[in-house]
Amino acid sequence: MKGVLLAGGNGTRLLPLTKYMNKHLLPVGKHPMIAYGIHKLHQAGIDDILLITGSKSVGLYAEYLENGRSFGVNLTYKVQEQAGGIAEALELAKGFIPHGEKFVVLLGDNLFQDDLKPFIQHYVQQPSGTAMVLLSPTDSPHRYGVPVFAEDGGGKLLFIEEKPVNPRSRHAVTGIYMYDHSVFDIISRISPSERGELEITDVNNLYAANGTLIYDILQQWWCDAGTFESLQEAAVHMKDELP
Ligand code: DAU
Repeated sequence: MKGVLLAGGNGTRLLPLTKYMNKHLLPVGKHPMIAYGIHKLHQAGIDDILLITGSKSVGLYAEYLENGRSFGVNLTYKVQEQAGGIAEALELAKGFIPHGEKFVVLLGDNLFQDDLKPFIQHYVQQPSGTAMVLLSPTDSPHRYGVPVFAEDGGGKLLFIEEKPVNPRSRHAVTGIYMYDHSVFDIISRISPSERGELEITDVNNLYAANGTLIYDILQQWWCDAGTFESLQEAAVHMKDELP
């Protein structure tokens, strides 16, 4: 199985730190943030990874990670020319994923303690054309995508609301997604949102409308390290994650 690690975007919530430094190269404890995403994919047995970032930063990633060998993985790089949204970045992975293969997508600012293996095992048993999101309980759902659960409790989501004012659950949709090649057809069917981005939530909502969006729930600590507060919290929790 292959993995796609997204490390583009403008990191505006971390200005001025991100004025000259890509968010995913900022320190979290002893390592740059991106090291934890690579570790999590490697831990789950995913060693063939596409890393997508902006043109200004791709050289820094290559300098730090090289071809990935010292992290036990094989890295390929691709440039997202402008921060046109998570789904726009994901579309760049189309040539990297063979037809018929399932794969994992990680947002590089999502840090977490769970091992991904059991979730991947659940996903690979699903029929093709299914997508899976991982959820995490949170005290501040309004900051994230928030799931609306199917009433029969059948493990499917009816809908995801992006940063709702009145969240309908106390769960966040994390930046850990699993797809197959059908995602590229779905991306070609969505349009830019009001903020001009191709939204991953619009992609997931097309799966939900087809009844093919399933979920699992992370059991351990998770955070989106995209704010000063969460970046500090992440440093504490990730302290012993990597030597
Ligand atoms: O962290 C989980 C949340 O991530 C989800 O709950 C939301 O549903 C999802 O939309 C996303 O929300 P954010 O507002 O946190 O997304 P953000 O723009 O901060 O981007 C998250 C990651 O995606 C970040 O690691 C960089 C990458 N990215 C983002 C954009 C906009 C790219 O690689 N390219 C991009 O163009």
